[in-house]
Parts: sequence; C-alpha cells; structure tokens
Amino acid sequence: NRILLLNGPNINMLGQREKEIYGQFTLQDIEQSLEQLATENAYELDSFQSNHEGELIDRLQQANGKYAGVIFNPAAYTHTSIALRDTIKAITTPVIEVHISNVHNREEFRHTSMLAPVCFGQIVGLGITGYRLAALAFFEKK
Ligand code: DQA
Repeated sequence: NRILLLNGPNINMLGQREKEIYGQFTLQDIEQSLEQLATENAYELDSFQSNHEGELIDRLQQANGKYAGVIFNPAAYTHTSIALRDTIKAITTPVIEVHISNVHNREEFRHTSMLAPVCFGQIVGLGITGYRLAALAFFEKK
C-alpha cells in the first residue's frame, strides 16, 4: 500500500515564488501533510521532486506496478510535455494530475494539459487540499 507524490519544476520554490498565486506553504508542508494522511490510512508515501523532465520520466517508469497511484503536479511540463504524456500512457499505475492554482483563470497557455487525457483524474485550484483529495481518491479506489 504505497502512494508516490511527484512534483515537477519550481515546486521546490513554493513559499518563496508568486505567493499571491501559490500561497505561503512549502513543498515540505505538502509532504508532511500527505505523509500524515497516508499513515492515518495505512499507506506509505514516497516523495520526489525534480526540475528535470527526464528525471520525472525515470521516476514514473520505476513507479510502474509498485504504487496504488501517483499524485503528480507536473508544473509547467503539464502544458508542453509529450514525453511525460507517453510515459503516463505507457504505465499501468494510475496518475492524478494536481495543480495548486486554478490554471483555468490564468494565462491561456495554462488552460491546456498535454497530460490530463491520459491521467486517471485531475484536480485544480484547491491548494494543498488538492493533493489530499488525490490521495483520498486512491485510498477509496477499488
Ligand atoms: C502549477 C500550474 C502550472 O501552470 C505552473 O507552471 C506551475 C504550477 C500549479 O500547481 O498551479 O509551476 O502546476
């Protein structure tokens, strides 16, 4: 019973970057929140953040078959990465795409996700709560 929390580029800068959009909380706050939630539900959580597309691809490939699900904030790669889309399509482990901000009330180029069509689900605009809801969806998934 394991869940993988995966975060893409610049998510390591939460708490410092564009606070009016992303809030005050840090990546560590997200990790702590999810770790506690996982423990409460008898799951284990692994967490990985990278600014590099290829490292995210490697981690997803390694995750295949080893997790109940992947909670993934691909950050800016959401809008550009055919490579990540192919990886999510290639693995059988379900992936939920999470965005802290409501990408739909921001710039036009954030309205499109290359990844959402191959994900199990998508959650946007709910801050840390979005990550927690994604975890809940995996706990309750049959
Ligand atoms: C983001 C939204 C993306 O458009 C942006 O590039 C990010 C963060 C979010 O969590 O709201 O870096 O994924």
